[in-house]
Amino acid sequence: MKLLVTGGAGFIGSNFVLYWLKNHPQDKVINFDKLTYAGNLENLESVENNPNYEFVQGDICDEDSVEKVMAGVDTIVHFAAESHVDRSILNPSDFVKTNVLGTRVLLDSALKNKVKRFHHISTDEVFGSLKLEDKNKFNERTTYNPRSPYSASKAGSDHLVRAYYFTYGLPVTISNCSNNFGPYQFPEKFIPLAITNLLEGKKVPVYGDGLYVRDWLYVEDHCRAIDLILQKGKLGETYCIGGLTQDINNLEVIKKILDNLGKDEKSIEFVKDRPGHDRRYALDWTKINKELGWKPLYGFDEWLKKTVKWYTENRRWWEDVKNGEYKKYYKKQYGVL
Ligand code: NAD
Ligand code: TYD
Repeated sequence: MKLLVTGGAGFIGSNFVLYWLKNHPQDKVINFDKLTYAGNLENLESVENNPNYEFVQGDICDEDSVEKVMAGVDTIVHFAAESHVDRSILNPSDFVKTNVLGTRVLLDSALKNKVKRFHHISTDEVFGSLKLEDKNKFNERTTYNPRSPYSASKAGSDHLVRAYYFTYGLPVTISNCSNNFGPYQFPEKFIPLAITNLLEGKKVPVYGDGLYVRDWLYVEDHCRAIDLILQKGKLGETYCIGGLTQDINNLEVIKKILDNLGKDEKSIEFVKDRPGHDRRYALDWTKINKELGWKPLYGFDEWLKKTVKWYTENRRWWEDVKNGEYKKYYKKQYGVL
């Protein structure tokens, strides 16, 4: 099989490329990535000489480069996106461009080249925000209600993907996953930002009251779920993929990280809240469990411990990343360095 991975130099995409080459060594994998601030080929150093792996630098909004890279492709897994909510609040334009318009370019090219499967990676954030006191969770039938420029642009891309299935018969599947964590995550996101700040002896900025709830999914569990959807998923269907956390809030997540690093709560700093901050996400992944037999391999504490260990042992990776552009962003977002 010839697999095209868009955004394969980012956090989840690079974990997926590594996962795929390890578990499906007979397949050819092309990684098509623009290398924005979030793309990092260092993540893929271990496979750069693998004859079944190829990197092509390009923008999903550019029709000619997309058309060129699509030749002979059987399956697409589409990760490429602008992915950070805080950046979408600072600058929504790139989010609409890449997430909506770029997805349209890929869909048209996939249709023209008769690809056998277009798998679109989306997020639980398209469903909006749940109340803390609610017991309900999002599932595949939840109405879309995005509330940030990021989630609105992802919702737009999901609608387009579904429209290409119904209108043109493009063989698509979609997954909406919860917050991922694990190795190679850009340290603008909460968990790697917290771990690396603590390793640098800095404080962890916690937005608002810290009582915001996310559903946490380890990236390798996510990759296994995508694999199952590609093998056994039904065309036109959506699958929700979540973790084993039960309504754990940001302060509780930080306390676990502090425990792992032998630090105390003096390292927490409450900062100004995010505008429109979604209070709670919780995801019901019964469908993929029942229909495809997927579940996370371990619980949050085990995966978090492994993640803290990875960032502790891979200091050079994140020290390189937390330079240059990152410093400018951090100052703009948090007002300090
Ligand atoms: P990321 O920001 O780490 O990586 C995105 C990658 O896409 C980068 O390598 C970047 O260079 C590339 N890219 C950006 N714009 C591009 C363009 N125009 N053309 C080609 N490449 C481009 O993101 P991530 O966290 O790995 O997320 C991957 C996907 O998963 C995204 O679609 C995101 O919406 C979705 N998702 C992420 C999470 C999460 O917790 N990280 C949760 C749910 C869904
Ligand atoms: P984030 O990793 O940005 O993911 P998302 O907003 O897409 O869910 O944030 C996860 C949670 O952590 C969210 O409630 C916002 C909060 N947060 C902080 O409290 N401080 C921070 O510095 C960041 C980046 C996030």
